[in-house]
Amino acid sequence: METKIEKITADSLAVAKKIIFEGGVVAMPTETVYGLGGNAFDDAAVQRIFAVKGRPSDNPLIAHVHTDYDLLKIIDYDPPYAKKLREAFLPGPLTLVYPSTGKVSPYVSCGLNTLAVRIPSHEGAQAFLKAVDIPIVAPSANVSKHVSPTSAQHVFEDFNEKIPLILDGGACEGGIESTVCDVTGEIPVILRPGLVTREQIAAVVGDCGEYTPDLSAKEKVKSPGVLYKHYSPRCKTVLFSAEETQKAIAACRAETGRVAVLGEHAILAFVADMGIPFLDLGETETEMASRLYDLLREAEKVCDVLIAVEPKKQDGVMVGVLNRLRKACVSTDIPH
Ligand code: TXA
Ligand code: MG
Repeated sequence: METKIEKITADSLAVAKKIIFEGGVVAMPTETVYGLGGNAFDDAAVQRIFAVKGRPSDNPLIAHVHTDYDLLKIIDYDPPYAKKLREAFLPGPLTLVYPSTGKVSPYVSCGLNTLAVRIPSHEGAQAFLKAVDIPIVAPSANVSKHVSPTSAQHVFEDFNEKIPLILDGGACEGGIESTVCDVTGEIPVILRPGLVTREQIAAVVGDCGEYTPDLSAKEKVKSPGVLYKHYSPRCKTVLFSAEETQKAIAACRAETGRVAVLGEHAILAFVADMGIPFLDLGETETEMASRLYDLLREAEKVCDVLIAVEPKKQDGVMVGVLNRLRKACVSTDIPH
């Protein structure tokens, strides 16, 4: 199948709508990363998404809608604090996990009794969701475990000849996936950190927890995605603290293959004279989030061993950035 990349116009939206209502998948831009979208009511379409991505069948999907009105059509329990969070952050990079109501395909939630929903703010995502006017389930548009896509070209690299259409909305500004927040309990609990921070959520509703799965317990994991290795470039990737940078570089250079370093701008001074490529995440937390995936994909092209260096700032949006970096890395051991 030919994979077309189209700018978002009335014509491309009409084609996208036709594909969706025939049970196909369409890649769409969002303010976080690109998504691989399908009709949330259509069992076969939802299953197709899992198949195309190679996604484990126990990792549930997020339903995307374009208004609060549409969100309320697929959930029923709505605690007052969740409403406050929607008013404060949506449309935007926050996903809310509600008790499920059975209104979308059972394949969306993979046997969990909850449903994740979000309202993206990206103009192109809004236009697409408005055109189809049904909930669209969309995981990140990368082959399972690969780095998430922040441009139409990234999606093309993973799904050329596998999907019919990529709606091109330009580079994603946010750069890492939405914050996933459970709103089924007394207080919101973050299941996956992201662009909306724990501090921001707590400032709106007074309190916010953070979920860490107890892997030894028999309890069913609340968000299966937290268990998987993710976001990995196809080169060996190791993570170090800034203090260990030079030691790590020396050890990695002794290995065969091309070495590159990825880190915040401030560490450029350490590596400038070493003659190895430096992938510069930038200076601010929003810059680092927005460049991360593009640079991890770049690393695949320029090196065999990537040394990622932990940025100094580790709170706020950096919680999400570090979470993705850690999952991209095979180890934090200096190779020998
Ligand atoms: O920014 C985003 O959220 C992007 C864009 C495309 O919207 N989507 C995205 O989807 O990152 P995906 O499928 O790559 O990641 C969804 C995450 C997974 O970790 C999954 O386990 C979790 O959300 N999730 C989905 N439904 C859930 C549920 N009912 N309960 C708990 N976690 C859920
Ligand atoms: Mg993903």
